[in-house]
Amino acid sequence: EALISGPQPLKGMKALVTAGPTHEPLDPVRFLGNRSSGKQGYAIAAALTKAGAETTLISGPVSLDPPAGVNLVKVETARDMLAATETALPADIAVFTAAVADWRPEDVADSKIKKTSGAPAAIRLATNPDILATVSHAGRRPRLVIGFAAETNDVVAQATQKRAKKDCDWIVANEVGGAVADGVFGADRNQVHIIDAAGHEEWPEMDKNEIASRLVARIVKTLEHA
Ligand code: CTP
Ligand code: CA
Repeated sequence: EALISGPQPLKGMKALVTAGPTHEPLDPVRFLGNRSSGKQGYAIAAALTKAGAETTLISGPVSLDPPAGVNLVKVETARDMLAATETALPADIAVFTAAVADWRPEDVADSKIKKTSGAPAAIRLATNPDILATVSHAGRRPRLVIGFAAETNDVVAQATQKRAKKDCDWIVANEVGGAVADGVFGADRNQVHIIDAAGHEEWPEMDKNEIASRLVARIVKTLEHA
């Protein structure tokens, strides 16, 4: 019923969201990863679904329940995340919140690495594919490509450069703390800047769910006027 379900301005559109960290195996029991909780991406997938978009959420390992109505695809590595993202294309809207590992161990041991021969001398790393850049440069580019950036300094300048380099429409940027992950990773609130072709907009600190619904409202407005 209209009054309860509310308007669904994105009905008929397809959206994809990447979320969470990736885990890059060293051996069957160990991996390289990061502190991403997936909260912001899951909240955005929920908000897109609520607005009527058919939403695929491509998620690295997190301990969150999938939002109702989303099509959840769970992955481990950056290469799996890229493959799942390409499978979800074409899409009208793509939001890349995942904290993709930039590198992976070049060699993955088939069995658990044992202590017997002492510490490994070094772990050689290989560069992972850039999922956002691959999608924004591909033939089936979504109408709206949105990246995220967590920076420790010069947030707006860094994010503006990143937007140009990755050819995305918007970058949602936030400042993160020093060596020990502070209030952003895993937290319920965040303070972001939106960088687009017109410049940048600073949003006040708010709940990640609130950021998600405002972001989706901005997506609706932009697609309506496109
Ligand atoms: N991203 C991606 N695939 C990667 C790395 C990043 O899709 N292999 C996406 C992230 O999901 C995010 C955006 O690109 O939306 C920016 O990620 P970020 O790590 O800030 O940028 P990088 O280009 O990896 O630069 P750096 O880590 O050196 O700042
Ligand atoms: Ca990175």
